[in-house]
Amino acid sequence: MQQFFKIEKTSQGKARAGELMTDHGVVKTPIFMPVGTVASVKTVHQRELKEDIKAQIILGNTYHLYLRPGMEVMQEAGGLHKFMNWELPILTDSGGFQVFSLSGTRKMSEEGVKFKSHIDGSVHLFTPEKSMEIQRQIGADIFMAFDECVAYPSEYNQVKKSMEMTHRWLKRCIDWNEKNPELYGHKQRFFPIVQGSTFSDLRKISAEVISEAGAEGNAIGGLSVGEPEDELYRITDEVTDILPKEKPRYLMGVGTPWNILESIGLGIDMMDCVMPTRNARNAMLFTWQGVMNLKNEKWKKDFSPLDEFGTSFVDQEYSKAYVRHLFVSKEYLAKQIASIHNLAFYLDLVKVAREHIVAGDFYEWKNSVVPVLRQRL
Ligand code: GUN
Repeated sequence: MQQFFKIEKTSQGKARAGELMTDHGVVKTPIFMPVGTVASVKTVHQRELKEDIKAQIILGNTYHLYLRPGMEVMQEAGGLHKFMNWELPILTDSGGFQVFSLSGTRKMSEEGVKFKSHIDGSVHLFTPEKSMEIQRQIGADIFMAFDECVAYPSEYNQVKKSMEMTHRWLKRCIDWNEKNPELYGHKQRFFPIVQGSTFSDLRKISAEVISEAGAEGNAIGGLSVGEPEDELYRITDEVTDILPKEKPRYLMGVGTPWNILESIGLGIDMMDCVMPTRNARNAMLFTWQGVMNLKNEKWKKDFSPLDEFGTSFVDQEYSKAYVRHLFVSKEYLAKQIASIHNLAFYLDLVKVAREHIVAGDFYEWKNSVVPVLRQRL
């Protein structure tokens, strides 16, 4: 089989620089993946994503795309790449996590999850097989196993039961995938997901089961759901100790800029989060100097560049005072500018992290920048 992941450098500790080789191009890891839930990274054009933000891979969501526009439209379009005119790699999440966070009433069973659409209240059933079928129809380069992510905190026995069901669902996903080939002529790589909340013994069992599945990459789910930061790092560290070294590791739904750097330090290669776009729409900007709330009065007459160390055009072409004015005036352009800034910053963050891994001084660098990234400006 065509090689999918190559590690270029593991200098010190667990951090590594690598490459994911997909049929839609190469992704340099560690990488941050902007979230494009409904075939749109909110407020940002595909052209800006590619040329200004330098996104290498984006995320789509099974739950949303299945409900709207629906799989008839998706298949007639020839899959998500064509539908949204994004020719670079795409990853889709499997739907379960979104059902839990978005739909109103839902009912879990061994078969799957019955839920009510958040759009029109219609009733649907997601099973592992159905999630795989939808993800074939979307046609992302990487697609995820159908799992259950429990809330934090949850009782040990509940987490154990849920994790065991996720493992049984994994087997059903794999069986379905073996019988149903890709639809659009490019390869789709399947990633199973480790669960187990913050219980070390359950995480160990789950990481072993997931590793044994022999997939082309592996993911860690069930984190960034309200647990303390030290728990996020502890579990990530324990799980990456078990997952195969030669395969890419994806930490789902993480996180702040400092979470990203700490996770890279623990052997994570891929991450995604709505934070840079969602917080941008609320006037929160992440920078190399710290976190800025642009609505703050202190920026009212600050005519310096939005971010003098920023890599995107918005950082140099607009002032803090101007973008603050746009936010105060509730202009759409404010959200657009802030989203471009935050995503470009996240992509710059992982690019510089990669350079330090290659140079062999990642941990010294990370330890010096993390306290600065966390500052409130
Ligand atoms: N996104 C963030 N966390 C999770 C998770 O545990 N499972 C899935 N499928 N997606 C996620």
